[in-house]
Amino acid sequence: MSTTRTAEAVSRLRCIACGATPDSAGQDFRCAACGDLLEFFFPGWTFDPLALDPAALKSLWLNRRTSRDALDQSGVWRFRELLPHIPEEHAITLREGNTPLYRLPRCARATGVENLHAKHQGMNPTASFKDTGMTFAASSAHQGRFSWVACASTGNTSASMAAYAARGNMHSLVLIPEGKISWGKLSQALDYGALTCQLRTDFDGCVRILSDLVRQKPVCLLNSVNPYRIEGQKTAAIELLEQLAWEPPDHIIVPGGNLGNSSAIGKALVEMRELKLISRLPKLSIIQAQGANPFYRCVREFGGKKLDPMTADTLATAIRIGNPASWKKALRVLKATGGEVEQVTELEIAVAKAEIGADGIGCEPASAVTLAGLKKLRRSGFVKPGESVVLILTGHALKDPDFTIKFHRGDLFDGTSDAGTPGAGTPDEAEAAQAKCLQRAPVVLEADLRAVIGALDAAERNS
Ligand code: F0G
Repeated sequence: MSTTRTAEAVSRLRCIACGATPDSAGQDFRCAACGDLLEFFFPGWTFDPLALDPAALKSLWLNRRTSRDALDQSGVWRFRELLPHIPEEHAITLREGNTPLYRLPRCARATGVENLHAKHQGMNPTASFKDTGMTFAASSAHQGRFSWVACASTGNTSASMAAYAARGNMHSLVLIPEGKISWGKLSQALDYGALTCQLRTDFDGCVRILSDLVRQKPVCLLNSVNPYRIEGQKTAAIELLEQLAWEPPDHIIVPGGNLGNSSAIGKALVEMRELKLISRLPKLSIIQAQGANPFYRCVREFGGKKLDPMTADTLATAIRIGNPASWKKALRVLKATGGEVEQVTELEIAVAKAEIGADGIGCEPASAVTLAGLKKLRRSGFVKPGESVVLILTGHALKDPDFTIKFHRGDLFDGTSDAGTPGAGTPDEAEAAQAKCLQRAPVVLEADLRAVIGALDAAERNS
């Protein structure tokens, strides 16, 4: 029997460490028995494999693309058969998801990977991938009748949460590290009406304070330890596979910060294979900035046995995270898909960002670690020239214009030269030369036609 019966009756919570299956989650979304993270699982899919027919699902999801219904128009809720059930009256949607998959011809040449695409999650309503998880988690908070939602953030989560809270008539509390988030992201939280607290600490310090706060106040925690966030974020991978006509790429590459996104994409891949929506798993690789590399060290130095928290530092402020909450989930995904973990320097990130920009796409610095990481994975032979690769770009270029302008003016590393940036390593001369080639500083001229023609001629000679 072909059916697309919804999963509403079959989603359960389970602890990723001790396997406990509580009926509901506490305020901190951690297991009451052992304190580890919870996740959703769908027992019905195993007990009743015919419950969801892959062909019927694919055609249902495709048909919804032409629907006028708000939930069908969302690139998250469109895939609701694979998500826990939230009644429609609680759904808060900004038509998130539905993000483009672009070819990257210039980056393909630079990496020697011909079949190279970027799934641009920065093309979401608040310009980052956070919206796909936030629509779902904010809706669950609404269903739980919370009047306040809260998060600790490096900027994007707070922008997204503030927007969805406003749409759902809820108040939002944002804890961000003072001076370490981009103006673009801060301004969004303000505009969407959040109570924004800039704390004199880093992201990890904000997380600590928030976890104490949710035990004392009736606020709904919307960081990615909230398993509803992970469920919503799964849909980016489902949508990607739909865009690729359900033909899995060989590799998917994501940035790693708090490691919620990699966990979500990996969870979706494993579930899609379980449900026979795809026949094989792409390798999911996770890239960190060298100055914020606790997960890289966890895998490479400690064989995945422990994560040693660190004081993180990188100009890619979105991933300036030293104690990622979801490291065990991400580790499981790495193992399940056979992916790799890599780290990249500040200079490599800046060059990669400019290269993605030069392809006419653009992204924020944290997203560019994916291309920088791909170059390393090519050099190590992990990614082969004939293989297909999808980079997940997590944030829009306009999130952090300061970084971009400083790069093009050549003063990004002033004061903190790349070598001087903690964990940046030895500056690579070839990379530095490449950075110079990519820099396009604005030219200040007299308001004079001849001066402009002179600039045009000079640019033509140098091109
Ligand atoms: N890229 C961007 C643009 C981000 O904002 C983040 C995380 C990541 C990548 C890393 O994703 O944490 O799921 O591994 N930003 C969070 C925030 C932490 O608060 O906005 P992750």
